[in-house]
Amino acid sequence: MRIVKTFAECRSLASDSTGLVPTLGFVHEGHLDLMSRCRRENDLVISSLFVNPLQFGDPADFDAYPRKFDRDAGLMEAADVDVLFAPSLEEMYPVEPVTAVVVKGITESMEGAHRPGHFEGVATVVTKLLAGIQPDRAYFGKKDAQQLTMVTRMVPDLSLPVEIVACPTVREADGLALSSRNVRLSDQARRLAVGLSEGLFAAADLVASGERDGAAIERTVTAQLAGMSAEYVTLADRASAEPIVQLDRPAFLAAAVEVGGVRLIDNVWLETDGSSDRGRRLDETSILYGEAH
Ligand code: PAF
Repeated sequence: MRIVKTFAECRSLASDSTGLVPTLGFVHEGHLDLMSRCRRENDLVISSLFVNPLQFGDPADFDAYPRKFDRDAGLMEAADVDVLFAPSLEEMYPVEPVTAVVVKGITESMEGAHRPGHFEGVATVVTKLLAGIQPDRAYFGKKDAQQLTMVTRMVPDLSLPVEIVACPTVREADGLALSSRNVRLSDQARRLAVGLSEGLFAAADLVASGERDGAAIERTVTAQLAGMSAEYVTLADRASAEPIVQLDRPAFLAAAVEVGGVRLIDNVWLETDGSSDRGRRLDETSILYGEAH
């Protein structure tokens, strides 16, 4: 695996089929699934590691984000990544930027309503990665459903010559969706946190049994959030990320909670025929809890 610091060097390595897996680092099995799909579908696999200050509202959150370069590089190498793109802040933002990418509508509810500026930061850095590296495909997890809707829509809006590939959420054995934040959960908060995925799965079961009313579907999740404070539980159109009152088109049911001082998000994808995508569960404890963390 080559470690590359500049966009120009990245582009000089491009092949006929180049795949990109963008990350903020602190790699877990969710990222490894993206890399493995990227490996299967491309000649050249590039993974970026850049903790993007533009998408963190609170500078303290940015400072606290775990940075484990050697650990991440080792995991990427083991995942058969060809190129680790790790730009400096100066490479990414050589001059104070006066240009930003703003995606309307899609970013206004849910995460957008609770994290002002977050999606503008993500949209801007993703556009820069796509423009600077010029991959043929880019891989994103369904765990960040609203982000995925946004990035997917940026492609036609900005005529970006790239295919966005969506990959399933990866979960711990008990259902908790993998996130770098999970390591900050106390034992008690960790026990409570499983209620988030349990609520979403219960709602997906309700949909499988025929329910299509948005309020009833959302209530099923809220009922399972004991010990957590819910920021939102929202049934949203998958194409526009706008809240909907009836499951009458492809949707996701998303929730954000705060538990023991840690903010968690999760979702399930729901179809009008009653089927759902709940992601996949690990058999073992996640590498997030390994020695290296
Ligand atoms: O999903 C993430 O990890 C980040 O938002 C991304 C896409 C790497 C942009 O910084």
